[in-house]
Amino acid sequence: MTSTATAKSKTRKSEVTRYRMYIDGKFVDAASGKTFDVYDPATEGVIATCPAGGAADIDRAAQAATRAFHDGWRSVTAQERGRILFRLAELETLNSGKPIVESEYDMDDTATCFEYYGGLATKINGEVLPVPAEAVALAMREPIGVAGQIIPWNYPLMMAAWKIAPALAAGCTVVLKPAEQTPLSILKLAEDFEAIGLPPGVVNIVTGDGPGAGAPLVAHPKVRKVAFTGSAEVGKTIMRTAADQLKRVSLELGGKSPNIFFSDADFENAVDGALFGTFINQGEVCSAGSRVLVQKDIYKKFVDAAAAKAKTIRLGPGVDRETKMGPLVSAEQRDRVAGYLKTGRGEAKVAVGGGTPKQFDKGWYVEPTIFYDVDNGAKIAQEEIFGPVMSVIPFKDEADAIRIANESPYGLAAAVWTRDIFKAFRVVKSLEAGIVWVNHMQPTFVEAPWGGYKMSGFGRELGHWGVEEYLETKQVFINLDEKPIGWY
Ligand code: NAI
Ligand code: MG
Repeated sequence: MTSTATAKSKTRKSEVTRYRMYIDGKFVDAASGKTFDVYDPATEGVIATCPAGGAADIDRAAQAATRAFHDGWRSVTAQERGRILFRLAELETLNSGKPIVESEYDMDDTATCFEYYGGLATKINGEVLPVPAEAVALAMREPIGVAGQIIPWNYPLMMAAWKIAPALAAGCTVVLKPAEQTPLSILKLAEDFEAIGLPPGVVNIVTGDGPGAGAPLVAHPKVRKVAFTGSAEVGKTIMRTAADQLKRVSLELGGKSPNIFFSDADFENAVDGALFGTFINQGEVCSAGSRVLVQKDIYKKFVDAAAAKAKTIRLGPGVDRETKMGPLVSAEQRDRVAGYLKTGRGEAKVAVGGGTPKQFDKGWYVEPTIFYDVDNGAKIAQEEIFGPVMSVIPFKDEADAIRIANESPYGLAAAVWTRDIFKAFRVVKSLEAGIVWVNHMQPTFVEAPWGGYKMSGFGRELGHWGVEEYLETKQVFINLDEKPIGWY
């Protein structure tokens, strides 16, 4: 059976779904026959197994993607590529542990992303250049070739869309490795690839962990470009490996984004914005506004109001419609965040939370936590926690806010809250960040560029910037002067 991703397996005590990965248009097991378990973060139970892909599987996928690129995909018209992306936009599925209400939003965003790049596929134009000769000179845009894409677990299907859609629009073929925590939704989506006209080998999904499947993908000589979203540590490793083959790389590495509140901001909105900016998706967000900078004259009132509101956040399993915050994705992530909570209790004061909730006997939950009187030099102000943890830092004036905001190795996002448009724009221009929101934090649009400054990485996803990452530029010079060149 090769046409579906799943089969029921009763080899264990309870029934788990056995998934296969997708290579060259077929659902297959790993060459080694090994599998790994996938968990439900709310019950800690195993819900599925997936093939533990390794170097042999990556090679099979990269060869298939290379054949698909040369034998057909690169000559499929932009119109047809666009139509395939439109059909992808119509497909639906998902599963990851987060509140169902947020998953529905992600589904919309995923569909919109395929739609956007479906439209953009036919608008990738070259240029005609005004060279000073009897000639026509062109800049042609061509797909790079096989793209290797490695994604994290916090927005499993949406991250897949952000990577696959622009690559296909550009005419590239893809080997994508989902995060080992969340490979299911993209494999379900792959069941419909053939039906929507995506030729075998154009998109391959290899499941497996970072060292086993991610590292050989980055090192594979047929892979001409690597797109990665994840930790800065792995980003550095990828860049080192890619250097040996001078491979194109784009990296989105998260951050420690400042969310800045001036005393003239709308107070109620500001408090909401601080919570939304930090706690959405359990704080497992690359652009989380987890460094909350508050002007001194509203500081005390702000901390009290934020803490009071945070206490009302309803924790529970993602599938419950009443849930406002779900469990973290894995025991490993829960332990990592719990480690920061311990550090934070020694570095600052606790306004609310600070531990793991007592009301659940199962599930990797963490209390929404607000630390205040945090020094910007503290670990909880400098390191990405990737959990529902806010560090509140007081500031005196505009210059003080800008200085603190930029004192960070990262520069993915930032937000500024004020009703003074002059101040807003002065601060916007001073912030070292790839995305800056004014009087909001987190809204993300497929039309607008996404990516960071400094150690948050480089390259931009989404919008027309996203497709640039998958294109080469070829200079073409056509001589129109029939006279002999006559040099020698
Ligand atoms: P990670 O960076 O280890 O994993 C992200 C992806 O990279 C996964 O698909 C993983 O299998 C893959 N990977 C891991 N090691 C690799 C290697 N040597 N070569 C190629 N691919 C490799 O992130 P992890 O361990 O899940 O989380 C650790 C921290 O990273 C989090 O606490 C958070 O701070 C940060 N992170 C940032 C994200 C972002 O959106 N920028 C997303 C996920 C995590
Ligand atoms: Mg890791």
